[in-house]
Amino acid sequence: MSERLINVADFERVAAGKLDAGALGYFAGGAGDELTLRDNVEAWGRWRLRPRVLAGLSTVSTEVELLGAPLALPVLVAPVAYQRLVDPEGEIGMARAAAAAGTVMTLSTLATTRPSELAAAVPLGRRWFQLYCFKDEAVTRGLMEEAVEAGFEAIVVTVDAPRGGNRERDLRTGFEIPATVGVPSVAAAMGVERAVTIAETFALMNPALGWPDLERLAAESSLPVLVKGLLTAEDAELALAHGAAGVIVSNHGGRQLDRALATGDALPEVVEAVAGRAAVLVDGGIRRGIDVATALALGADAVLVGRPALWGLAAAGSAGVGQVLELLRAELELALALCGCASPAGLGRAHVRKAPAASLYSAE
Ligand SMILES: Cc1cc2nc3c(=O)[nH]c(=O)nc-3n(C[C@H](O)[C@H](O)[C@H](O)COP(=O)(O)O)c2cc1C
Repeated sequence: MSERLINVADFERVAAGKLDAGALGYFAGGAGDELTLRDNVEAWGRWRLRPRVLAGLSTVSTEVELLGAPLALPVLVAPVAYQRLVDPEGEIGMARAAAAAGTVMTLSTLATTRPSELAAAVPLGRRWFQLYCFKDEAVTRGLMEEAVEAGFEAIVVTVDAPRGGNRERDLRTGFEIPATVGVPSVAAAMGVERAVTIAETFALMNPALGWPDLERLAAESSLPVLVKGLLTAEDAELALAHGAAGVIVSNHGGRQLDRALATGDALPEVVEAVAGRAAVLVDGGIRRGIDVATALALGADAVLVGRPALWGLAAAGSAGVGQVLELLRAELELALALCGCASPAGLGRAHVRKAPAASLYSAE
């Protein structure tokens, strides 16, 4: 009898049982002692909701508007590399589920599917393209042009990975991307198809990127550019000053700088700095609809999920991603109803406060 999977943790357990040690370590793991990996999940639980009652709501909607377009739920699919390692359809299955759920799929530069291939396979889906800048500028330019041509709606520039993080699980397993799982961007940059390690892959990227590069990219791009991977008010200010249409508060799912701030702790200062001038998104450790509600109450316009969607794909392919997105949507809808909000727009700072129990993080 097949077991009913009712929450993200159930999907994670099933996915973990299907993946070999190398792939599981790569997808589940973080940097160093994995403190930030754990802290991302725990940080959302350090906030408490302040529900309002007798709100007289007969219907509740999870719809939002983001960058001028509607989304059925404020949960997007984060860019996650190498999806054909967990499912034969890979990014195409992920994109189909995101489209069916009415949300955006963000395609990684390190995808096993080209931007044009994804667009052809899932023409009606909304998609953003995540950009890593290669040392070889022609590769970067080629990727961006292909994404624009293929109807991607935004460019997400990831800025927290000038080098690959210290992923000790990958070192222990000797994890490599097999040559049989083609990564078109990496093959273009290396000029050959062979098995590569994550460290070799990051060594292809330009580590010396600076704010002037972002400004040039934003000026040259016909699409809105979002900066993914900042954690401070200072960098949010700089991102806006250099042309970003939005920021994504992220520490790369705890995979880059261990002991970097958890995103649920960093979000308030970024929201305050941005002050409504641009979109603010956040990812890292979102596992429940109440995590989404907390992030929105703290001022995020939407969240992204990395591993939850990936666990769905690994557990049951595209249908599994659909189930994960629907359970998060249903959990969010329930949280909204129980907080007295007719829609995500109704959530505000008054709906959330730090957990009252004494903790190192108790200062508001
Ligand atoms: C296995 C894996 C691969 C990832 N690959 C990328 C990537 O190629 N580009 C990128 O910008 N972020 C990448 N990320 C980071 C995610 O976009 C996102 O920031 C993170 O997964 C959010 O945390 P969560 O997994 O707790 O939801 C990756 C994350 C994971 C887990």
